[in-house]
Amino acid sequence: MPIVREKLRSFKARESAAYQKSRPRSAARGSRENGFFGGVPQHWMLDWPMPFPLVIEHASGTSLTDLDGHVLIDLCLGDTGAMFGHNPEPVAKAVHAQAMRGLTSMLPSADVEEVGELLQARFGMPFWQITLTASDANRFALRAARAITNRPRILVFDGCYHGAVDETAVNLEDGLTVAKPSLWGQAYDLAETTVCVPFNDVEALTHALAQGDIACVIMEPALTNCGIVAPSPGFLTEVRRLTQANATLLLIDETHTLSTGPGGWTRTYGLETDIWVAGKAVAGGIPTGVWGFTKEVKRGIERVRGELPPGHSGVGTTLSGSALQMAALRACLQDVMTETNYAAMIAGAIALEDGITATIASKGLPWSVVRLGARLETVFAPKLPINAEQMRASFDHELEAALHLGLLNRGFLVTPFHNMLLAGPSLSREAPAAYVAALNSILNEIL
Ligand SMILES: Cc1ncc(COP(=O)(O)O)c(C=O)c1O
Repeated sequence: MPIVREKLRSFKARESAAYQKSRPRSAARGSRENGFFGGVPQHWMLDWPMPFPLVIEHASGTSLTDLDGHVLIDLCLGDTGAMFGHNPEPVAKAVHAQAMRGLTSMLPSADVEEVGELLQARFGMPFWQITLTASDANRFALRAARAITNRPRILVFDGCYHGAVDETAVNLEDGLTVAKPSLWGQAYDLAETTVCVPFNDVEALTHALAQGDIACVIMEPALTNCGIVAPSPGFLTEVRRLTQANATLLLIDETHTLSTGPGGWTRTYGLETDIWVAGKAVAGGIPTGVWGFTKEVKRGIERVRGELPPGHSGVGTTLSGSALQMAALRACLQDVMTETNYAAMIAGAIALEDGITATIASKGLPWSVVRLGARLETVFAPKLPINAEQMRASFDHELEAALHLGLLNRGFLVTPFHNMLLAGPSLSREAPAAYVAALNSILNEIL
């Protein structure tokens, strides 16, 4: 059954009016001169599909209460920053206790040894460094990779996003690596530092690595930032084989794919890598990135440090590795990222997947569903895309925005980009069926 554009547009207008009418307090906050550029502490908070930002009064577990008193089921969860819920109790307690003992000193805290062991046991890498964000972890790991290999360039896959990391902010256009058109103030040609190839394309990867100037391949095991694109069978094995054959380091960024299972995709599917990165949810919402590496990489960093004079390394930031972060990391790894919580999250996501798949079939829509553990999304194409180009061809921004707003008005918050859903550990058993009912009611109005 096709989407009727006229119906879709009038649906969006109705939903937009309903949103505005029912949220006078959020509206007043947003329109008041409040000292912030655009009225928000981060400009991208204006990029959501709603007419003005939802102001959050309270967040707990997988529930949000906005300033106007609406209670929402949160399936966005801060785009994974709150993957394990908004206030996981062990983290909240550890943060409070640490605040009473000192937040930061630029020296290791007493939790260091336990956190190191927890990271090793959980994600498999023998050596770790802590940063404030996943962006920082990626940036510093790439710097280390270039220093160790003495090669200038990195390789990314088209459709990637690895945070505020200049050299990864590229697209592939007509076979050329070009800066993303939305990038502010880019000072140099990113094609000098970066080669971009299509995901799941072994031939393009083989050719690029054979040039011998790639320090590091940085990748998510499945693309999650251009819609979810899963690796084709055997692709990740080939990536590993080719990086090793060309003496290029492999960096697996699991900031989002932590949703796959307790040890991320890498542990769930037995991947091997040189550098491993995560952030966002890893310390339960306290700003933290982690990068882990092999003993060979450690030796490389030691060699480089030995060859250079002491002083600023280009890797750091003052608050990284703070006592606050270590306390939160310890609590999150030990008591929040548990097998039990992951089992609940994945069960919630499977229930959503089953319900959405049945709805799509019952309405005869040419759509599909893709899931990475606790995270899933609907793709507006009958067959799942294998790269960013195919995924972009399936995009329907008008439909996406209308669904987002309709779901919000019916009590569900989903991600502002491609309507991804993430099932937190405390998502109720009833929530997936209620979400599917809301989706059905929207589809009945636009088909
Ligand atoms: C795969 C991946 N890596 C890194 C980042 C950057 O995380 P942060 O913005 O917390 O630095 C993101 C953000 O969405 C991401 O999706």
